Amino acid sequence: MSTGVIDAGLIDELTGIVGAVHVLRAPEMTAGYSIDWTRRFAGATPLVIRPGDTAETAAVMSALAAARVPVVPQGGNTGLVGGSVPLAGEAVLSMRRLNICEPVDELASQVTLGAGVTLADAQAHAAASGLSVGVDLAARDSATIGGMVATNAGGINVLRYGAMRAQVVGIEAVLADGTVVSHLAGLEKDNTGYDLGSLLAGSEGTLGIITRVRLRLHPTQPERATALLAFETAADAVSAAAALRRGVASLHALEAVFEGAMALVSRHLGVAPPVGRLGGDSHRNPPIEDGGGAWLIAEAAARTDPSDELGAAVEELADLVVDAAVALDPAARQRLWAFRDNVTEAISAAGIPHKLDVTLPAARLAEFVDGVPDVVRATDPDAQPLLFGHLGDGNVHVNVLGPGGAEPADEVDDAVLRYVAELGGSISAEHGIGTAKLSQLHLNRSEAELAAFSAIKRALDPVGLLNPNVLLP
Ligand code: FAD
Ligand code: MLT
Ligand code: ZN
Repeated sequence: MSTGVIDAGLIDELTGIVGAVHVLRAPEMTAGYSIDWTRRFAGATPLVIRPGDTAETAAVMSALAAARVPVVPQGGNTGLVGGSVPLAGEAVLSMRRLNICEPVDELASQVTLGAGVTLADAQAHAAASGLSVGVDLAARDSATIGGMVATNAGGINVLRYGAMRAQVVGIEAVLADGTVVSHLAGLEKDNTGYDLGSLLAGSEGTLGIITRVRLRLHPTQPERATALLAFETAADAVSAAAALRRGVASLHALEAVFEGAMALVSRHLGVAPPVGRLGGDSHRNPPIEDGGGAWLIAEAAARTDPSDELGAAVEELADLVVDAAVALDPAARQRLWAFRDNVTEAISAAGIPHKLDVTLPAARLAEFVDGVPDVVRATDPDAQPLLFGHLGDGNVHVNVLGPGGAEPADEVDDAVLRYVAELGGSISAEHGIGTAKLSQLHLNRSEAELAAFSAIKRALDPVGLLNPNVLLP
């Protein structure tokens, strides 16, 4: 595509739409919009535009389309696959100012939110009505509802409520030419044609700019019980996870941290896990390598105390579990969760990882966890694989660091993702394709599927202005 020219006339037009203070051009003002959370993906942009509502977004897109200027939509910029930053000189459309939470519709248990509302603000807004958002993730203070829909974000409660797409009951978006499409009534039953909300969920900014989202909300489950379970092997953890999914109706989260990642996070926190083989003083300087041990965090949540239900299920796992710690009050639960919640931060403090977020069929999960370190080291002998994730969904985060925290060899990504595909898994469980996995999408999608994707893209964005270097090869 021949890209357009950002001339004084265009800048005047954009300034007239959003105001001079929301058109950023100086490199020191645009730098923060041009590098991602991991620091792996960094580019530059000649222009950041920050519209304040749907009408401004539509007018901005209309002006950019007339000038043929490609655009990267951006929310909280917490995406992990290089899809939220301008890597080829695109303009950035920051959606964070669309941050209005409309009143909760308590009759319908739904709410309409601006695309720029952060997840934490959405959660607090819903909680004031005794309701909760179905998706939760550690980037909640920055990740936006628009970005979460655009990536079909997953997080820790997918086993109970589904991912972000399952929460969407209405959507409003601006198409590449500035047209507004809006369908926000939130009717639970509404078979009046294509579901644009479903289509935009997971579209990673390539089909439209999401401006407002109507979300399904869920009854709050205030009573909680949390268990940290230690296992000798990944296979034992996988078997226990399956039993907990079958046996605990109030299961709310089921997360895993494998040994290398547990060693790293406990050193980062300066605290050893209360159960399992990294006890004692080993957190002060443990070897950061995978010794095969595994930990599960299982959380039950209900209207009434679920501790008996969780406790009984854990007792039935006596043959598998090495040791268990159960916490009921918020502070004690928080101490257990710290070993999962802080893994991403701990890895980021150690270096710039390649983040390979994958799902395996349940029957191949343990084989993958045991086999992937060898796949990594066969490609880059000095690379260090760190494994954790949402085991209840079959979702493993394979993070790979090079020596001294440097990036590992690029070939590691291809080797791991090919191994995933061979085992019948998905090369992206929840983070998306972005720019990071463009060259591997064919491992999961046939030529016919990719042709259908391209046809949809051409229909909605014929010039190719919206995130032109993301998702589609
Ligand atoms: P951005 O990073 O700004 O953008 C992500 C993508 O969406 C880009 O392709 C962008 O172009 C597009 N986009 C953004 N806003 C819009 C819009 N309004 N319209 C159209 N396209 C748009 N993800 C998970 O799924 N599960 C997790 O558990 C999880 N945990 C995380 C923990 C940490 C510490 C961090 C840093 C990230 C985590 N993530 C997780 C990844 C990230 O938070 C999610 O991908 C999130 O959905 C991104 O939201 P965002 O607003 O930051 O989007
Ligand atoms: C998580 O589950 O913690 C996230 O998806 C972030 C990550 O993969 O690092
Ligand atoms: Zn995750």
